[in-house]
This record gives sequence, C-alpha cells and structure tokens, in this order.
Amino acid sequence: MSIISLKGVSKEFNTRAGKVNAITDINLEIEEGDIYGIIGLSGAGKSTLVRCMNLLEIPTEGKVVFDGEELTDRNKKELNKKRRNIAMIFQQFNLLMQKNVLRNVSFPLEIAGISKKNAEEKAKELLKLVDLEDRIYSYPSQLSGGQKQRVAIARALSTNPKVLLCDEATSALDPDTTKSILRLLKKINRDYKITIIVITHEMEVVRQICNKVAIIEKGEIAETGTVEAVFKKPKSAAGRRLFFQKEDEPDLHMRTSVKNRVRLAFDDNRAYEPVIANMIIELKAPVNILYARMESVGENQKGQMVIGLSEDEEIARKQKEYLRENKVTFIELEEGEANSLESNDLEEDEDRNMYGKEGR
Ligand SMILES: Nc1ncnc2c1ncn2[C@@H]1O[C@H](COP(=O)(O)OP(=O)(O)OP(=O)(O)O)[C@@H](O)[C@H]1O
Ligand SMILES: [Mg+2]
Repeated sequence: MSIISLKGVSKEFNTRAGKVNAITDINLEIEEGDIYGIIGLSGAGKSTLVRCMNLLEIPTEGKVVFDGEELTDRNKKELNKKRRNIAMIFQQFNLLMQKNVLRNVSFPLEIAGISKKNAEEKAKELLKLVDLEDRIYSYPSQLSGGQKQRVAIARALSTNPKVLLCDEATSALDPDTTKSILRLLKKINRDYKITIIVITHEMEVVRQICNKVAIIEKGEIAETGTVEAVFKKPKSAAGRRLFFQKEDEPDLHMRTSVKNRVRLAFDDNRAYEPVIANMIIELKAPVNILYARMESVGENQKGQMVIGLSEDEEIARKQKEYLRENKVTFIELEEGEANSLESNDLEEDEDRNMYGKEGR
C-alpha cells in the first residue's frame, strides 16, 4: 500500500522575475517500507518536491495523500498532527547550537508535551540507537559532520514517524561517513519499518540503499522504477544523461574499431572471471579487455565488460561458442559502436541477439 502518493502535484513560485515552475504534474507512489530515491541535478526541483510531501510547501495544484488521507485539504491543526508522522533531515543538520546533544533530541519531545524526565529518557534511547550514547553532553560544535547528522536522525525519530524525508542528508559528508549514515538509515528502515525518501544528486547514494528510484529533470519525473531496472537500463533520456555522464571513463568512445567485440553482462564477477581465464587457456588465444565496470545494485553485484575477441574469425567463432556453452550473457558489438551502454543503442539492445542465460 502507498504511504505517500502524489497526484498531479505542481508548485509554482512567483518571483520578481516572473513565475517559476519548480515542479510540474508530479505523480508518485511511495510504498510502505520503501527506501525511495529521488535523483536529479541541481535545480531539478527535488527539495520543492520533498517539501510538498509534508506540505512545508503548499502545492499550487494536485493532491498529497499520506497513509490513505489527503493532506492537501486539512486545516492547520490537523495538518500539524499528521506532520508528526513525517520527519525530515537536511544537508545542514539544523541543530540547536546552544543546546547539547541530549537536549537537541529531548527538546522537541518536551514541546510536544512530554515531561522533561521522560523526554530525556527517550532521547537517550534514540541516541544509543544512532551510536552516540557517549556524546550526549557534547555540543554540536564539538561533533563531526557525521555525528551531527546522527543527532539530527535521533531527533527526527523522536516523534515515531512513519516516514523519514532526507534532503541531501549526506551531501556535506565524506564518502566513508556517507556510507556509515546510509547504513544507519538502512537499519532504521529495516528494524523500525520506517519508509525513507532519499533526495540526492549522487547515483552512488541511490545505488547503496534505495530499492526504488525516480529521476527528476527540470521539475518533471522522467522515469521511475526499481533501482535494479533503472540502473541496468534507464529508459529516459534524462536517466541516460545522469547515468552515463561519467568523467572517469575516457575510453568509452575509443577503440571502437576493434573487431569482434562482445559485451558481457554479469551478475557476479566471481562467476565470469574463471570462464574467461579458462577460455584463454583452453583456446590458447588471448582476449583484450576494453572496458569493465562493476557496481553494486542494492545487495547484488552487477556489471558489464567489453572484450575484444581474436581478430581471426575462426578463433573468434570458437570463443563465442565457448562463452555460450558456459552461459555467459553477451551481445556482439557492431564495428564503430561505443563500448559502453551509453548512447541510444540502449533501446536497440532489446531486439538484438542475446546469448546466455538472458537470451536464446
Ligand atoms: N522559494 C522559492 N522561490 C522561488 N523559486 C524557488 C523557490 N524554491 C525553489 N525555487 C526554484 O525552483 C526550482 C527548483 O528548486 P529546488 O530547490 O527544488 O531544486 P533542487 O533540485 O533541490 O536543487 P539543489 O540540488 O540545488 O538543492 C529552482 O529553479 C529554484 O530556483
Ligand atoms: Mg535541494
């Protein structure tokens, strides 16, 4: 069942320079238990979208339905009550600098009418959950970025929310700290059954924890799907732009004149490595590795590799036969075609001969 659903949501801002359509006609279904990534470039409308989910921003058009109830037509008091189910964390942590860690977490509980003693007790529990029990009397200025975000997460959980919205929550953190915060979010999702919405401009973040993803570009949703499907083969031009604008792959367009290239798709590198090594030994013919990329998608490892088989057609034929027999999924690349799944050939791949477990 959908915990949050957006139906035709648009938000227009009036500025001195005129009207800005920050988001347009957004339809999204977020299921209970999802870790849902919303990814897009700067200015795409991600923050506006997430702020519309808890009505911090009132949509100009459309409906926001939370847990079966429409939020867009509530009065202020009802809305405030509902909002307690939707917590939020930010890139800049937004902690109270004059209060210590414990008070940062207990203060909102007291505002909600809980006694100081009970509020602090609950705060201590939450701080234990985020691994900060030994820092409860520190002040935010004495903490690292990752620790500050942990405090913010503990505070966000204090109202027992059903949904946690994360707007670029790891964007100010280094890669290792990012990983540890993402692990914490995953734990919260799993152990406390809290639905998490992750706004980010980094694919890596989506890949590491999300099960579903929406790609947003210029205020519109370009595509949605499981992380596995979208990462394997983005359908939209916006998706392809996001995924394949890789600065770190200068070889992408090179060596395309190499003959007898095949692209292998694999789910697990342990499975294909020995096959290729054995093929080289058995057929006494080398192969040329032109491109390889492994990535983890959710829990799984996925990858693609382009190898140049022998230039001798007869040997190349045997090599393909060997790959087929060993159930390696591959397609043959045309001469002149780029190594990566970069351009519009993504769509065409569908129709082409696929061998191995996904093919005939
Ligand atoms: N309060 C506002 N008033 C006017 N325009 C706004 C307002 N908030 C956002 N916008 C505009 O709406 C568009 C989307 O902005 P938004 O902050 O949602 O993008 P974003 O994807 O979160 O970007 P970033 O990755 O930089 O945080 C931008 O053109 C922005 O200038
Ligand atoms: Mg933003």
